[in-house]
Amino acid sequence: MLILSHATIFQPSGESAAFLAPILKIAEFLFALVVSSRTPFMAIMTQVATPSSLDAAAADAEFYLPADAFFRANLPTALTFDDVSLATLHSEILPKSADTATALSESLRLHIPIISSDMDTVTESRMAIAMALNGGLGLIHYNMPAKEQVKEVARVKRHIHGLIQDPISVGPDLLIGDILAMIEAKRFSFSTFPVVEASGRLAGLLSGNVVKERYKSKRVSEVMTPRATLITETAAAAAKDPIAAADRFFSAHVGINKMLVVDSDDRLRGLITASDVERITTEAKARRKPARDAHFRLVVGAALSPIRLPDGSLDREKILSHVGNLVDESIDAVAVSTAHGHTAGVGDMVRLVRTAFPDLTIIAGNVTSAAGTEFLADCGANAIKIGQGPGSICTTRIVAGVGIPQLTALYVASTAAKKKGVKLLADGGITKSGDIVKALTLADAVICGGILAGCREAPGEIMEISGKVYKQYRGMGSLSAMKAGSAARYGHDKNDTARKVTAEGIEALKEVSGSLDDTIDNLIGGVQSGMGYLGAATLPALRAKARYIRVSPAGQKEAAPHDVIEVSTRKN
Ligand code: XMP
Repeated sequence: MLILSHATIFQPSGESAAFLAPILKIAEFLFALVVSSRTPFMAIMTQVATPSSLDAAAADAEFYLPADAFFRANLPTALTFDDVSLATLHSEILPKSADTATALSESLRLHIPIISSDMDTVTESRMAIAMALNGGLGLIHYNMPAKEQVKEVARVKRHIHGLIQDPISVGPDLLIGDILAMIEAKRFSFSTFPVVEASGRLAGLLSGNVVKERYKSKRVSEVMTPRATLITETAAAAAKDPIAAADRFFSAHVGINKMLVVDSDDRLRGLITASDVERITTEAKARRKPARDAHFRLVVGAALSPIRLPDGSLDREKILSHVGNLVDESIDAVAVSTAHGHTAGVGDMVRLVRTAFPDLTIIAGNVTSAAGTEFLADCGANAIKIGQGPGSICTTRIVAGVGIPQLTALYVASTAAKKKGVKLLADGGITKSGDIVKALTLADAVICGGILAGCREAPGEIMEISGKVYKQYRGMGSLSAMKAGSAARYGHDKNDTARKVTAEGIEALKEVSGSLDDTIDNLIGGVQSGMGYLGAATLPALRAKARYIRVSPAGQKEAAPHDVIEVSTRKN
């Protein structure tokens, strides 16, 4: 049309007419050819102009892009969860059959890709136990004395096992008053103990029925069930399948609910309780399986503080001795958790732990770049934490002006993680299950703080304000948390009172949200839904199939309930 109009209304004259005449002739000829002949050129023009004529797969491929094309196409803008939506795909997967299993290393496998954050208002032993029972992992924070952190880990590892190999026992000469004091001091939730002589031989069983104030001045040996009347099981009989052996034992001996296991010298070798057996048998049939180690103990991780000497260098001896104590308690993972993981100090710490404990799963972070991911992988980390400033209580981006919106950070890090064969953990910014699905298109698991902090299993004071119940939730970079120990995570010294440190987190409240079981049920239900929409039977399939589209502010508004009055059906 353009050529035609030039040819008809443009009337050249003189020299220019002689010069332009052949050009105009060629132009007219070409235009006639294009219009009349439906050449391939015309066909291409038509396709680009009217996408409706494309075949379906090509239309999808043009609009819904896989990660590599999508994040490049959006350069130089960094994106986070609400900026994108995932495109659906043909599916033969029912959400309930989607498998959410993941791994943080060769040896550490989880049934759900959720980890509770190493924060002092999120994860202590109670949360870690509940997380592992739900198939995930809890990272115990380090705002506590090192010895206490080891005890917290031990509480998780000894929580419910097939066979408690090292049961807590008492001596026959102690007073019941001593036992009561020990239960109080160690916060034991049980009061029945095997009684063991100094030689290690079994002397009897102290039943919880007699561990009472009224018997406090009596000796254990006076009130215990003596060895002669105790029915026990041999270590050899229980060795192959402790749970099956205990199942038979409890069926045969009505009324007995502790099976003590002894060796051929009558030394105590283990204990199994009837309630553990019942719970474990029920778990086997349940939808979600607990995350356990090779010895059927719950899995747990702990954050490590980069302990320093006065000259600023790492206190290698203290760090290694503490990690050794955690390993003695069979810890499954340690996390070198800092705000800036792409630093010489964090690298040294990861290398130190890797060299001393070649088989230990090491999580390290936080970084938001491919180079940072590569650096920590080269230092020996198995799983890298990605996230600088996305957390609900974080102010790093405001205070330092630094950090990358989470999805782009995950994509960039994933390019290095693939090459290095390390896992990625999306740390922070998760506010709903849809965010987890989006994160899992690029990462192997998510780390959650705020979304779990209102659960009753999280530590922290509960307070009532205007009839509503809240729990404390604070950033590990808030002033109060840094004073309690986490200053090193932000490159500060908690004893350095002369220098004013700037907080990179806030103190906040979360509405109390009920049990962790319910919260995880909702989150995993959402993750499985997402997998169903994408036709992904497993998390690796989700990563391979994900295709993204940008969402406008109007699209974000459309994505949430709108133009209705929501009716709450929540149980109180
Ligand atoms: P969510 O969004 O789950 O985030 O509450 C939890 C994650 O936030 C990180 N974190 C902090 N980041 N200042 C920060 O910039 C802080 O004070 C702070 N405390 C925790 C941490 O990675 C956590 O898992």
